[in-house]
Amino acid sequence: MRQATGLSERLMSEFDRFLKTVAVPAKTPAQPTPGADCGESVVPEPEKPHVAGLMRINHTGEVCAQALYYGQALWARDEATRAKLLQAAAEEYDHLCWCQERLDDLNARPSVFNPFWYASSFALGSFAAAFGDPVSYGFVIETERQVEAHLDEHLQELPASDCKSRAILQQMKADEIRHGDNAREAGGVDLPEPVQKAMTAMSKFMKALAYRI
Ligand SMILES: [Fe+2]
Ligand SMILES: [Fe+2]
Repeated sequence: MRQATGLSERLMSEFDRFLKTVAVPAKTPAQPTPGADCGESVVPEPEKPHVAGLMRINHTGEVCAQALYYGQALWARDEATRAKLLQAAAEEYDHLCWCQERLDDLNARPSVFNPFWYASSFALGSFAAAFGDPVSYGFVIETERQVEAHLDEHLQELPASDCKSRAILQQMKADEIRHGDNAREAGGVDLPEPVQKAMTAMSKFMKALAYRI
């Protein structure tokens, strides 16, 4: 009975997190936003919509990261696994704040589909956790590998003058690589190729949508 109460409380607090993440702009990072030494970091007016589109994708990616990690943590079999996932989730929250700040700088809005992406990602994280911690870690490895590749693409695409967005993405990339490495060290297994392909297809769809709206 006590266990059931514990679970329902945790589910309620996850629902609360969902509402806050999608409805309230993330604004209190533990680590300051990278690029403090960039000065104004002005984006030329004609390039602003493109940069805003890229940063909206990254913001949505971080919304997904919150949902994935908290979904996985909720169902983790082992307390040490849960603690590791929650630590990574806290760092992902900083990423979310940094992307939000850059969107604000650019007078751009987050994606209107973020509630949908959060809910789908939470379901996906929960599904991965159901296969046990090694698979759950494997899911982290594959997610972070794909995020790293897409951050590289965005770093290529940013205008040379946009020092601030670049600094944010570079720090995010370093953190994502570390998350993937930690997951491998913790015993993560490689996911089957069809699963990797399905994850790539889903993130492609997310990126195409989030770039626009
Ligand atoms: Fe991240
Ligand atoms: Fe990460």
